[in-house]
Amino acid sequence: MALRKDFLWGGAIAAHQAEGAWDEGGKGPSISDVMTGGDVSHPRRITDGVIEGENYPNHVAVDFYHHYKEDIALFAEMGFTGFRTSIAWTRIFPNGDDAGPNEEGLKFYDDLFDECAKYNIEPIVTLAHFEMPYNLAKKYNGFMDKRVIDMFVKYAEVCFKRYKDKVKYWLTFNEINNQAANPSDHNLLQEGAVLVHEGDNPEYLMYQSGVNELIASAKAIKIGHEINPDFKIGCMIAMECIYAKSCKPEDMMAMTGAMHKRYWFMDVHARGVIPTYMTNLWDRLGYDIDINDEEKAALKEGTVDYISFSYYMSKVTEDFGDNTYNFHEPKDYVDNPYLKVSDWGWPIDPLGLRYSLNYIYDRYGLPMMIVENGFGAYDKKEDDGSVNDDYRIDYLRNHIKCMVDAVNIDGVDLLGYMMWAPVDIVSASTGEYDKRYGFIYVDRNNKNEGDFSRSRKKSFYWYKGVIASNGEDLG
Ligand code: BG6
Repeated sequence: MALRKDFLWGGAIAAHQAEGAWDEGGKGPSISDVMTGGDVSHPRRITDGVIEGENYPNHVAVDFYHHYKEDIALFAEMGFTGFRTSIAWTRIFPNGDDAGPNEEGLKFYDDLFDECAKYNIEPIVTLAHFEMPYNLAKKYNGFMDKRVIDMFVKYAEVCFKRYKDKVKYWLTFNEINNQAANPSDHNLLQEGAVLVHEGDNPEYLMYQSGVNELIASAKAIKIGHEINPDFKIGCMIAMECIYAKSCKPEDMMAMTGAMHKRYWFMDVHARGVIPTYMTNLWDRLGYDIDINDEEKAALKEGTVDYISFSYYMSKVTEDFGDNTYNFHEPKDYVDNPYLKVSDWGWPIDPLGLRYSLNYIYDRYGLPMMIVENGFGAYDKKEDDGSVNDDYRIDYLRNHIKCMVDAVNIDGVDLLGYMMWAPVDIVSASTGEYDKRYGFIYVDRNNKNEGDFSRSRKKSFYWYKGVIASNGEDLG
């Protein structure tokens, strides 16, 4: 058994999907506060500001803001040694461009991290997880405006200084690359606070705002290391490894193009330079991406200490007859006949996690952390209050097994495993309650019924055993 003795076992959530209390404690509206609820067949909508009468599940979420002590006690009962959450930027800078921070927001996270410390749970903290100030989207068009880089850096600096002795592991932008091959309105708003207006080219917006986010991340990392040289600051990538449909060489090139397109963000975070395959692509497409020499130097000075990523599924692509191999989601995906899918159509591929760990480690040789992996499903609460979520246990067991193999057999350097999400929360893509991930059931559903009470599912006890055995006993 090769998992390190101090391997971090735990779970991950994000502020906007859990906390609720969207206008309490001086918090300002975030981009997730203007996204309506949806479900598997009804996409979320982005409204022009908060409109009365619309359904915004993130406004209340699962009320973690008022339940965090209870939830952290339950995490501790499972034996968590790590807990990933995010700081809602709008609790600290309600509008993003405020002169100074909001003390009540800072205090909330002091209390939250102190609560973790009570149980020796190491916090892993994301600075921007789909919850940028809405004002930044409206007034500046988010990361399209270079001034927003400085606002992010200022926000990061305030957090680094305030929680210098409470938080060691940081992440800058959540799933920064999710927008890469699919710059939809939803993805651009979630990842860069960018609103698409008539006549805009979303792909260009994605590249320019993405570059600005990468600069912001690098500048923040440099400052973070100055504030506390012991900080470990990482990036966070949505890892959906893409396979070639066959061994046909053109399929392999299509796969390479797809991986470049989705993972160039990771190259920049880890190596501090924008790869040539990407600058060549911009030239071919006629995109004049604004980045000056000072910003290029900043990228070099702010590379990451570790790579963190989410892993839910793998994808497949094939040759689509274009020798530039400029892949686009979702049109260039094909089905994988070897895999089953979840009720939301997400392919289930545990071995893909081992493949991903190897791919990233081979590419950069940096330590890694899995900061999201989990199974969204419809749960049934029985009359006796139990939830028998064997499907979730199966999913997690199979993935953890492949993770352990990657460490044990392949020798990758892995810091920890944060499953998504230990307590039921609001889904990010569909904005609903009924897509549940938790070990802890929360009494709240898509009709907004329920009193937010918490109870333990079968998987709760299973994960407790996994942690107690440091991954040896997978049940
Ligand atoms: C990742 C996000 O995309 O996947 C999380 O970082 C999200 O915020 C998770 O919740 C699962 O996706 P979903 O749409 O099922 O909530």
